[in-house]
Formats: sequence, C-alpha cells, structure tokens
Amino acid sequence: MRIPFYDYSIINRKLKKEILKEINLVLNLADNSSHESYVRGLENKAADYFNTKFAIGVDSGTTALQLAMVASGIGEGDEVILPSYTYISTALSVSNIGAKPVFIDIKEEDLTINPTSIENTISKKTKAIIPVHIHGNPCDIGPILEICKKYNLELIEDASQAHGAEYKGKKIGSFGIGCFSLHTSKTLGGVGNAGIITLNDRGVYDKIKKMMVPGNNTKELLLSKRTPCIMDAIQAAIIKVKLSCLDGLNKKKNKIAELYNSLIANEKIKKIVPRKDSCPVYRDYCIRVDNREGLRRFLGRVGIETKARYKLPVHLTETFTYLGYKRGDFPVTEKISREVLCLPSFVGLTDDKIEFVCEKINKF
Ligand SMILES: Cc1ncc(COP(=O)(O)O)c(C=O)c1O
Repeated sequence: MRIPFYDYSIINRKLKKEILKEINLVLNLADNSSHESYVRGLENKAADYFNTKFAIGVDSGTTALQLAMVASGIGEGDEVILPSYTYISTALSVSNIGAKPVFIDIKEEDLTINPTSIENTISKKTKAIIPVHIHGNPCDIGPILEICKKYNLELIEDASQAHGAEYKGKKIGSFGIGCFSLHTSKTLGGVGNAGIITLNDRGVYDKIKKMMVPGNNTKELLLSKRTPCIMDAIQAAIIKVKLSCLDGLNKKKNKIAELYNSLIANEKIKKIVPRKDSCPVYRDYCIRVDNREGLRRFLGRVGIETKARYKLPVHLTETFTYLGYKRGDFPVTEKISREVLCLPSFVGLTDDKIEFVCEKINKF
C-alpha cells in the first residue's frame, strides 16, 4: 500500500463541474471592472463566512500579512511579536517591511503562542502581535486581545492554517486583522498562490485598497512599490466553490483526526490537545514522538509518506541569525520542532488507510 501525504486532485475532481462553471464565467468577463467585481463577489462571501465587515482578496498569505502591517502603520524600526514555531513566511512578512521580528515560545499542549511570555518582550517599539493558529489550532486569543488593548498593539492573526476554526464560538480571523493563505495546500485553497485578509476596521480597509490600486502621483504609490497583488479572478472562481463546502471539508478532516486519536495507542506517541473552548480544523493531523526521524523512516519503508514541517525553529534559521537568537532561547519550540510529525490527513483519505497507518504506528 502507498499512502501519499497529500492528494489535491481528489477534491478538485469532486468539485470539477462547479469549478469549471465558475471558470467559464470568468473567461467571459469582458473588462477589468467585471474582473474586479467578480473578485468582490468572493470577498463579500468570505466576509459573510468569517463574520467580518470586509474581506480583501490578495495573491498570497505573505502579502496579506505585509499589507495588514503596512496599513496599520508598521514599518522600519518597529517590532512585531510572533512565535518561532511557524512557517518562516510569518517572520519574513515582518522583515520584508523593514520591521523586526521578536520571537516568543509556544505551549506544549497545543503548539500555539504562550500568552504569558508576551508582556516581557514588549518594548516601546512594539507595534503588533501575530498569533499563528498553527496546524489549525486556535491560539488563546482572549488574553492576547487584552494585552493588545493594554499596550495599544495591533492584533494580526496568521490564520493561514485555520480556515473555519473557532475560538469561543467566534471565527478565527475575526478577532483582529485576519490573514489567510489560500495556497493549494490549504483546506480552502486555489490552484497556486492566493490569500485573503478579513477585517472590521474601515480605515485599515481603505488604506489596503489604496495600496493595492494606487492612483498616479499619490503617496500610496511609493508605499505600495507598485507590486501587483490583487487576487486573480481565476483563483477567486476556484476558492468561491471551495468556500461553499469549507465546513464539509473541515468536518471530514476532523473525522480523520478523530479516527487517528481513537486508534493510535503507543506510549511512545503523544497527541496534540487543542483547547477545550475552541474548534480546531486539523489542517494537519500531528503527533509527537522522541525518535521522530526513526518513525518517519519506519513508516516510509511501508509506503506511508509523512512530513516534519518545521524542523528548524525560525529563530535558529540562517535567515534570522542577524537577530542574535541562540539555541536554548525557546525550549518548548525547540523540543516541539524535534518531535512533531504530520500524518497523511487529506480529504478523501479512506478509513482503511488510516487504520493501516495506525497499525504501523502502534508497532513502532
Ligand atoms: C502559518 C503560515 N503563514 C504564512 C504562510 C504564507 O502563505 P503564502 O505561501 O500563501 O504566502 C503560510 C503558508 O504556508 C503559513 O502556513
């Protein structure tokens, strides 16, 4: 038996008829303004779904984060607090706009930012906090929001892995400025790169829109660097169809996680425990194991493909050596980065395959 880590084609095949119908609509749009209003249609649908006043379609999750920060007045010399256990793009979005990433540690149970470490790292230069809802696990937003209020900081959620997740009954991405990647690998994904910003602040919304389509001879033109970053209508077509069935896709992924949770029984394996007051979405189903590379090889030999996504915490990467962090600075992040292994969990993975993976894991 061969079990791949992903199979994007399953969902696309299932939704092919609806997707082709939408793409056909886009191919018949005659001018720029029709393309813009088509994308606006998706933005309205997304704002409805995520329960925010506005949504803005962009070309990637990285762009979403950068635009959110620049429109909030963050730039050269400012500091932004974020976890080191994340995809490196979260930190790059900060350095790309000339600001300084300030890393903090995570919690061992659910792998999300530890709110108790935030206040020690706040300085006069701190402008924002970026909690990352990693692997689809909602962060503990309550105390983070309080800190933001107390110190007048912007809350910019990196929700790139948590489309449809909830914290205390409210959609992730609706607490601050929500930034989502809609890359193919995400549960809500196009084909290739795309992203979306969800927000309630009219002022920030207007600024982002101005930067995306700057008028000639304006200040925004320089700020935007005239980098094209509007979501393509073709991506909007695919994402529109997927958004209509996002809850169903998340339900299927949650079922896969439930089956893994009930069948994995090996004392060498630790499971991730999402918060009780939240609904995670299992972008990834992850386990923790001391001998992660041993388990990866063991599963690989019987045809099971797995992924160790963030093997090197961002603060220890060569990219960010200039910040001066060293090994031992964030013990939980460093331990977790050695232990976490993501198992196949794509929509369409059948129960017999999950049972096979669990049988092998239990023999390890
Ligand atoms: C947590 C996180 N942040 C940011 C990004 C960046 O998104 P994109 O690749 O769409 O720029 C990703 C993409 O994988 C991500 O997982």
